[in-house]
Amino acid sequence: MKNYIKHDPWCIIEDGFYAEYNEITESLTSLGNGRMGQRGNFEEKFTGKTLLGNYVAGVFYPDKTRVGWWKNGYPRYFAKVLNACNWIGIDVQIDGETLDLGLCPVSEYSRVLNMKEGILERTFVASLSDGKQVRVHSQRFCSIVDDEAGAIRYAITLLNFDGKITLTPYLDGDISNKDSNYGEKFWDEIRKETAFGEAYLEMRTKDTPFKTELFNVCTGMKIDLTLNGEPVDFQSKPVKAEKFVACKVEIEAKAGEEVALYKYAVNLASLNHPTDRLLANAKAYVERIADKGFAQMKAEQIEAWAERWDKNDIVIEGDDAAQQGIRFNIFQLEQTYTGEDDRLNIGPKGFTGEKYGGSTYWDTEAYCLPFYLATADQKVARNLLIYRHKHLQKAIENAANLGFKDGAALYPMVTMTGEECHNEWEITFEEIHRNGAIAYAIYDYIRHTGDEGYLAEYGLEVLIGIARFWAQRVNWSSDKQKYVMLGVTGPNEYENNVNNNFYTNYLAVWCLRFTLEGIRSWKSEVSELLQKINFDFEVETAKWQHIIDNMHYPYDAQRQVYLQQDGFLDKELLTVDDITEHRPINQKWSWDRILRSCFIKQADVLQGLYFFEEDFDLDTIRRNFDFYEPMTVHESSLSPCVHVILAAMLGYKEKAYEMYLRTSRLDLDDYNNDTEDGLHITSMAGTWMSVIKGFAGMRIRNGVLSFAPYLPDQWQGYSFRITFKGQIIRVSVKPEAIEVENFSNLPVSFAVNENLVELEANGHRTLIITVKK
Ligand code: BGC
Repeated sequence: MKNYIKHDPWCIIEDGFYAEYNEITESLTSLGNGRMGQRGNFEEKFTGKTLLGNYVAGVFYPDKTRVGWWKNGYPRYFAKVLNACNWIGIDVQIDGETLDLGLCPVSEYSRVLNMKEGILERTFVASLSDGKQVRVHSQRFCSIVDDEAGAIRYAITLLNFDGKITLTPYLDGDISNKDSNYGEKFWDEIRKETAFGEAYLEMRTKDTPFKTELFNVCTGMKIDLTLNGEPVDFQSKPVKAEKFVACKVEIEAKAGEEVALYKYAVNLASLNHPTDRLLANAKAYVERIADKGFAQMKAEQIEAWAERWDKNDIVIEGDDAAQQGIRFNIFQLEQTYTGEDDRLNIGPKGFTGEKYGGSTYWDTEAYCLPFYLATADQKVARNLLIYRHKHLQKAIENAANLGFKDGAALYPMVTMTGEECHNEWEITFEEIHRNGAIAYAIYDYIRHTGDEGYLAEYGLEVLIGIARFWAQRVNWSSDKQKYVMLGVTGPNEYENNVNNNFYTNYLAVWCLRFTLEGIRSWKSEVSELLQKINFDFEVETAKWQHIIDNMHYPYDAQRQVYLQQDGFLDKELLTVDDITEHRPINQKWSWDRILRSCFIKQADVLQGLYFFEEDFDLDTIRRNFDFYEPMTVHESSLSPCVHVILAAMLGYKEKAYEMYLRTSRLDLDDYNNDTEDGLHITSMAGTWMSVIKGFAGMRIRNGVLSFAPYLPDQWQGYSFRITFKGQIIRVSVKPEAIEVENFSNLPVSFAVNENLVELEANGHRTLIITVKK
């Protein structure tokens, strides 16, 4: 755990240069706008520890699979989010000496990500040879208004000498992925062009035997220069090299004068533009933003972020660490996915790193969806569901590759295009619970938005594919006289190839029941669909019902807890406190030792109790929580948030708060020693859930929204806004009262501490309700 980021309600502040933590800070200060994003790298050359990262949404490469021993059913490629053209680079020379913070002593350093405004800023004084000192002040953002563009203002002041500043802003397409299976490069140059103060570089992903889409990305830039804030004449010399274009500018400056370079850049992908128009469109785009100018673009950025914060901010009073944590999580989610494009999804690292290939995981449905449901337009969550609907055929092919038939669908654990990309057998073949999360998301979407028709429109087609898979994946055990599910991996990846993972079995049955009810309710509306997919109503539903009625759930009658899997009690039952070595165990222990231990990576049985809380009484949830939580090492970022929600419900306030800090500050404090790889974007939505479903106790019961809020002792108050069935309400929890406000044009009703509250339309009427003790 690290503790060098200053606590502040709105900013991520590195005060003083922590060169050894630079890759961590680069992750923490990442920028994005849904279409493109980048790590908080330096503009100028840096020879110290760094992971240069620029990413364009939806642009990937199918890297050849690499395994020790091939197994039938493995996918041929592992898609990789592509590290793309570096558009932020500015080579800086002062009297011929390169500015490089890896070499020059630096003082008065700060790197600040202002989350309120969406702007990254750096200031420092660097010492060069002969005692020369320069001050640098840079500002940069990925525009959320012009979402294929970014802008930089890079200002240099010579502090104690007159001299020559040479600036070479460039576009560098000669980029390698950190995450690549064979160390190959994935980009070819297509064309480049330079003009006065402008440069363009178009790259295309290399040809591939896998017949996936190839992508062209055209990056363009235009520069401008000022001296002490006034426009200045300058010469721009074009520089061209392989996969590289730049404009070289020289200017003489006196001590105390500020030279500012403005760099306007765009990244246009063939995903969004006709390939033959990329260069022309990039030129027009660059022209437009350069005309707007930095000040105007920045003002628009600040205004647009203010609008976003107005919708989704969670204000926490009296606890800067907690406030910074939640805002950081919300900010990064907003930078990653805007929901405007149903071809895009949310990679576990977003635009902040390459781990996990940038692909789609069950994280989206199980963790991210609730955030977007409650803070964004309905279309955003709907697009996430449509994404999976579009992949249904591939999910059916994926299941067929594994030997399933008759329209059974197994969604991939990891995917870009709907095809499975992951090739560890225990995950690819066994971590099938992901199918259930996709079904659960449909249920969650409908209960939150009230869009019942979605089932008939798209939902049932997906659900039937999933239900057919479960019906074939279980088998009848004549020994147990029950259905069993063998050879699976549950959410707890520290167990593989187990039989009867409680969570998976329970989820499978729930899917079958939900699908069955859906078909019964919408039978006439979906009759064409049922015909199209050869649905044998009598036979298939009878089989499903039999499974629903006869599934085996491992259970310990003595402790009265569900068992994570058959045989779980054979393990030596220790608690995390018994681990004397340094953690995380996944970085210290052999895999063999991990598998034999009882230690749990992330919520597993508890994931099921969280999803299906209404099916269990509080005592059952408490017994299971008390049994499993002490064995849980929370080495998946997805773990703490589920524990906050359950702990809050059980009244375990200390535990809930401890887990809240862990989820909300996971990256800020580098709990799992892996922030340098990138941020844990998908678990950030879990942080949001921790507050809203945890401390504020938000639930949807029988179609009614309800809250049961409490105030953590460490806070003086908190407030948030929720969109529910198109209406917007605000809840403020204070020590002695809960205030609720209606921001919509219609009356709203919801429950607080089991009292029905009705608020008139159009108003900021406030009700005072006593806080639950
Ligand atoms: C977790 C998975 C998760 C993946 C991507 C893994 O460490 O165990 O549940 O889907 O990370 O976030």
